[in-house]
Amino acid sequence: MTILAIESSCDETSASVCVNGKIQSNVVATQLIHEQYGGVVPELASRVHQQRIVPVVDRALQEANIEKNALNAVAFTRGPGLLGSLLVGTSFAKALALALAIPLIEVHHMQAHVLAHFIDEHRSPRFPFLCLTVSGGHTQIVLVRDYLDMEIIGQTQDDAVGEAFDKTAKLLNLPYPGGPLIDRYAQQGNPTAFQFPEVEMPGLDYSFSGIKTAFLYFLQKQTKANPDFVAQNLPDICASIQQTLIKILLTKLRKAARQTGIREIALAGGVSANSGLRTALAEMGGQEGWNVYIPKFEYCTDNAAMIAMAAHFKFLKGEFTSQEVSPLPRW
Ligand code: KG4
Ligand code: ZN
Repeated sequence: MTILAIESSCDETSASVCVNGKIQSNVVATQLIHEQYGGVVPELASRVHQQRIVPVVDRALQEANIEKNALNAVAFTRGPGLLGSLLVGTSFAKALALALAIPLIEVHHMQAHVLAHFIDEHRSPRFPFLCLTVSGGHTQIVLVRDYLDMEIIGQTQDDAVGEAFDKTAKLLNLPYPGGPLIDRYAQQGNPTAFQFPEVEMPGLDYSFSGIKTAFLYFLQKQTKANPDFVAQNLPDICASIQQTLIKILLTKLRKAARQTGIREIALAGGVSANSGLRTALAEMGGQEGWNVYIPKFEYCTDNAAMIAMAAHFKFLKGEFTSQEVSPLPRW
């Protein structure tokens, strides 16, 4: 069972080949053009996907040492994501599947982030597990009963936590995506230097828009008193904001684990690359008696290997997609 998978939902053009559930290649081309605009520009993203998709797929096939004719299915991210970006991957996948007369498999991007945990079979969580899925567009606590049986039991009601990282970074004049930079500066800072308010949300839901506004007012006040405040305190500011975001994430996750009685706890999505979050989750896991699963860095941010993995499980269940399919940006 040889599957070619394509991911193009946001600003990474990626292709991966998977044979019998084993990843043979995972080529990721990240678009750097958005850095200068302080965020992903959808129109530019889709154009860059168009330029990159053929060479990226070619490389993924070459690295896996697979001829096109050996493929048994083509998988693609159907959503959620940017419409123009999704269209490139979807159209390419449809055309290739049609030309090779093989089935198409649509994949849900967030489900794929969770299924990235099965890429390395020696480090996979056991069912049922909870997955804290944190990316640029989503923040969810997912109850995973089986490969394709997932329920969102808590989620953000406004901004995603990745957005909170990126927006605070933007206020600090750091380039997009700011999350990794906050992470880097935070490593040299004092996480208790500054305090930020935490918004209480009912149940297992999150909210991150309030903290962004609080951070804006905090910066305005501090820079009015001292114009060099940011330059003089960047590591402490980053460490403090990061610590607050992590605390919000993990407090709710702990509540979910205690409520459900589940002790298999996984982390997924771009923000799972955050070193502070990885350490804090491992620590909480130790205190709470959890088995904690943290993905390898290459499978945290967007990649086609996770799409291939999800497609593998869909192939096994015979879940194929018709040629009539179109992208679902808000799936
Ligand atoms: O999963 P992903 O690659 O794309 C989406 O599906 O959105 O997640 C991207 C998000 C961005 O907000 C980025 O700033 C954040 O993940 N991110 C990080 C780190 N690496 C990526 N946030 C905090 N610390 C990091 N090390
Ligand atoms: Zn993602």
